[in-house]
Amino acid sequence: MKTTLEDLKNRRSCRTYRPEQITEEELEQVLQAGMYAPTGSGKQSPRIVAIQNAEVIGQLKKMNAALLGNPEADPFYGAPTVVVVLADRSCPTYLYDGSCVMDNLMNAAEAVGLGSCWIHRAREEFESDQGKALLRQWGIEGDYEGIGHCLLGYRAGERPDPAPRKKDYIVRVN
Ligand SMILES: Cc1cc2nc3c(=O)[nH]c(=O)nc-3n(C[C@H](O)[C@H](O)[C@H](O)COP(=O)(O)O)c2cc1C
Repeated sequence: MKTTLEDLKNRRSCRTYRPEQITEEELEQVLQAGMYAPTGSGKQSPRIVAIQNAEVIGQLKKMNAALLGNPEADPFYGAPTVVVVLADRSCPTYLYDGSCVMDNLMNAAEAVGLGSCWIHRAREEFESDQGKALLRQWGIEGDYEGIGHCLLGYRAGERPDPAPRKKDYIVRVN
């Protein structure tokens, strides 16, 4: 319990990664945690795509950088593993479901000692023709929306301090 609470507080976004790949065991532990995230009515609307193919990561990186408006950027910060979370729009809670999966992935990464970061623009990425073609290649059919990318890898460099929490974050009603 203490470790879980520490992990939840200590997790910080990682934006520099060592080039070596994470182990199968680490990846599997993180994916399992994602798969057991809560979902509305237990419908399990999300799909999780774990990508370690450098060519595919390069393709997504280019698409994401273009959406960012900076084609030269590396929005994935050199992470060797990119986990894409999508969720089925036909489920009323899909956005929340996919976000819960993302959160479980990032917190599990902290628990196993990996760096992680949520990278945005997955919705636009998988609404494009190129993104739709990738989904077809991966055998994902249906009305899926990209929720986010969860980068995974070994942290290079220091873990940043968290920003101070805003004073009125919590409202207590007694
Ligand atoms: C919905 C969402 C989208 C995010 N998109 C990006 C992104 O595209 N690039 C990035 O570097 N960080 C992204 N982040 C990470 C946030 O910038 C980060 O969580 C925030 O600055 C707080 O820092 P911390 O995660 O270290 O606590 C995103 C986080 C969330 C929740």
